[in-house]
Amino acid sequence: MSGFKPLSPGSALGHISHPVAIITVNDGKNFNGMTAAWVTQISIKPPIMCVSISPKRHTWAMLENVEYFGVSMLGKDQEEESNFFGSKSGRKMDKFKHMAIEPFMAAHGVPLIPGSVAGFVCRKTHQVEQGDHYALFGEVVEAWKGTDNVPLNFFRSKYRTW
Ligand SMILES: Cc1cc2nc3c(=O)[nH]c(=O)nc-3n(C[C@H](O)[C@H](O)[C@H](O)COP(=O)(O)O)c2cc1C
Repeated sequence: MSGFKPLSPGSALGHISHPVAIITVNDGKNFNGMTAAWVTQISIKPPIMCVSISPKRHTWAMLENVEYFGVSMLGKDQEEESNFFGSKSGRKMDKFKHMAIEPFMAAHGVPLIPGSVAGFVCRKTHQVEQGDHYALFGEVVEAWKGTDNVPLNFFRSKYRTW
């Protein structure tokens, strides 16, 4: 017995367990951030991360005009931040102000989400359009350890804290 059942690719992909992060950007006028689950490390030397972002996001439009972005890896008590940054658009509001979040200011003016498990400042190196998203690659130029919280995960459309 293999244990496999046929499933559409869309449904089967939901069985990949992802971390939950907030991707942040400062374009010199405004801060913004959006929740992203499609985030991973792809190289050790140099340290490179990859995030998958739809061009529909306001964050994407802002990212096109900057050199650096932030990645805050969320912990188990940050579901509220994840839901807010992942459902509202920064096109119409300042999400930081609305949630009364005082960002931790990291290198190059990149705002990070306080209370996260880890935070990274990445320098954009490359972007590749694939289907309806862009894979954005960034070299980690500054890294922070945050809380010792259990990381927040996303699996089968639900948050998990295993
Ligand atoms: C748990 C979760 C994971 C998400 N992951 C992604 C992702 O990996 N890539 C993406 O483009 N959008 C993702 N989103 C959707 C964006 O966070 C959402 O559209 C956000 O409101 C965009 O904000 P913006 O318009 O200010 O950029 C996710 C949302 C949630 C709640």
